[in-house]
Amino acid sequence: MSTSSGIIVLDFGGQYTQLIARRIREHHVRSAILPFNTPVEELRQRAPEGIVLSGGPSSVFEEGAPHSDPAILQMGVPVLGICYGQQLISHQLGGTVRPAPTREYGRAHLEVVEKSALFSNVPAQLPVWMSHGDNVEKLPAGFRLTARTGSALGAIEDAARKIYAVQFHPEVRHTAHGEQILANFLFEVCHAKPDWVPQAFIEQTIKEIQEKVKDGIAICALSGGVDSTVAATLVHRAIGDRLHCVFVNNGLLRKNEFGSVTATMRRLGLNLIPVDATERFLKKLEGVSEPEKKRKIIGNEFIEVFEEESKKLARLGNVDWLVQGTLYPDVIESVSVRGPSAVIKSHHNVGGLPETMRMKLIEPLRELFKDEVRRVGADLGLDPELIGRQPFPGPGLAVRVLGDVSAEKLELLREADAIVQEEISAASLYESIWQSFAVLLPVRSVGVMGDQRTYGYTIALRAVHSEDGMTADWVRLPYEVLERISNRIVNEVRGISRVVYDITSKPPGTIEWE
Ligand code: XMP
Repeated sequence: MSTSSGIIVLDFGGQYTQLIARRIREHHVRSAILPFNTPVEELRQRAPEGIVLSGGPSSVFEEGAPHSDPAILQMGVPVLGICYGQQLISHQLGGTVRPAPTREYGRAHLEVVEKSALFSNVPAQLPVWMSHGDNVEKLPAGFRLTARTGSALGAIEDAARKIYAVQFHPEVRHTAHGEQILANFLFEVCHAKPDWVPQAFIEQTIKEIQEKVKDGIAICALSGGVDSTVAATLVHRAIGDRLHCVFVNNGLLRKNEFGSVTATMRRLGLNLIPVDATERFLKKLEGVSEPEKKRKIIGNEFIEVFEEESKKLARLGNVDWLVQGTLYPDVIESVSVRGPSAVIKSHHNVGGLPETMRMKLIEPLRELFKDEVRRVGADLGLDPELIGRQPFPGPGLAVRVLGDVSAEKLELLREADAIVQEEISAASLYESIWQSFAVLLPVRSVGVMGDQRTYGYTIALRAVHSEDGMTADWVRLPYEVLERISNRIVNEVRGISRVVYDITSKPPGTIEWE
């Protein structure tokens, strides 16, 4: 399937660049982000249907402020400048840009004052989101003002040359009708074709990986979660059995997880190396109760196991490539991902690996958001259960057994947690909840069962709604569900005598207890 060339977003370092690209994809139009200084010849070769100049933190006058090639504005390709993009267009086409007397951040009121393709089907007055400090004072020749906000030019355009610019951010949800404004640019101005679907992403990504990974062996640490599985499946489709997937049982997985993940990965045809390293991990964790220390031990041990496996693979060829399921939200915000001035900071789930092992990274999902990854996973044919899996932390149950970890405590937690999962699923709540799980507290309390006095541990039940794990609210679980979970845990898990429900949101709490 071949798709249209789509829209190119030139990145000037704005915090919303990825969001612009994502919003374009939401309209099923392909989008790619390139650095602001991409040569005009390269853009011509790509023959985009349109170009967006992103926002950015700079001021066009600043020494070293990023400037794209002015020839881009002569290509005859429709252009939309957003925020900094508007100032740059004005500056490059002979308008005047001045530092604004009052800076506008946050909500502003936009008034559409002239008919414009950009504002078709958009009300004349609307709230928009601004964040800028410079103003366009005099319009470049050929431009007209189509919308204004209190102290700034809201939108300007030269429809004959198909150059449009807005001072506000149509890509953020706080801008009412932002979606419609972007759609107007895509379809009314660029006449872009809405043929970008997950299948197109899959084919494109496979092609790119094949071009990049011409030889050598690639290795991937599978966790059984949706991100690493989708990443591995894509790479496997591209380079076949040159990809080796290591799945480590660190002894901190949930009930039956090692077996079921192994079976799923085999079913997917992945070249799997399951490693049961339970004893090594538990030995290293003995007597350790400080959460960050636990995390460090687990991370280091993981690297050792992974390195050992990659050394074993060296007999088959050079292990040059490391596949990671890094998503866009893992790439720390507010730094430009592609811009040349960018410091790229990745959150590596397998912390420290690239440095010690000197491998080149393949991160096919680094521009996607979680829900986009899930859609790609569905199109790759992955099981709905796998795609819908709630996130599970790398250090696993070690951060849910509070204090020191032992095989016995892990066993108690596993049993209690399995009951939580069963009951949440039985109540058809699993998919709508971000995370639901049990935590084992090192607190014992007295109970009575039959005629026996009991003195067992406490399980804290945690269930939260969240968009991205950054903030969260506790789930108002129905009393009947709470009741069933509590009854079953106390009755079925010997050694637990009490169940409590955590009603703390994040902030001020965190999702995990450690
Ligand atoms: P907190 O507890 O910080 O968790 O509110 C936010 C999200 O991150 C997960 N989490 C981790 N994931 N390694 C991981 O891979 C970790 O050390 C870790 N700690 C927390 C947590 O499950 C939640 O989704």
